[in-house]
Amino acid sequence: MNKATVRETDVLAVRKYGDPVLRRKAQPVKSIDDELRKLIRTMFHTMYAEPGIGLAAPQVGVPMRLAVVDLMPEGKSSPMVLINPKMEEKRGRVLSEEGCLSLPGLSVNIPRAEWVRVSALNESGFPITVSGDGLLARCLQHELDHLDGVLIIDHLPVHERLGAFWEIRKKKKAGLWK
Ligand code: NI
Repeated sequence: MNKATVRETDVLAVRKYGDPVLRRKAQPVKSIDDELRKLIRTMFHTMYAEPGIGLAAPQVGVPMRLAVVDLMPEGKSSPMVLINPKMEEKRGRVLSEEGCLSLPGLSVNIPRAEWVRVSALNESGFPITVSGDGLLARCLQHELDHLDGVLIIDHLPVHERLGAFWEIRKKKKAGLWK
């Protein structure tokens, strides 16, 4: 995708499972400039429109190490930008339901670290550290996975993965995925 063609009020199409961009390892962001900030705003628009609580750049066809998150705590917007994020620390393990905008309608029970600490740059290029448990920890791991081409179904044991593939096939056939 040509970033220059993106208007900040645009809502981008979220790439669905089967699109090769979702399986690629994303490249580090090299410059944090106005073009990138425009893409970030467009990603927020797209995420809120879906709606979702996290969106990684590969999901809108941009193979860069960038993700946006807004868990909307108590219904209030709390946007977070993660540029070139890095997993610094993980603790514990917890099993929980998880979905993904690139796999609409699919919900899987997968293990994640209970608590994580992530370092990144924000949209101004300043280093930030985000740490926490619960939904935040889960969301951070999910979005960082996207930057390495990893999807929620990859965390399923093999026998459950087959069931998930079957679900995906059914949904695709029924025309639920575009
Ligand atoms: Ni996802």
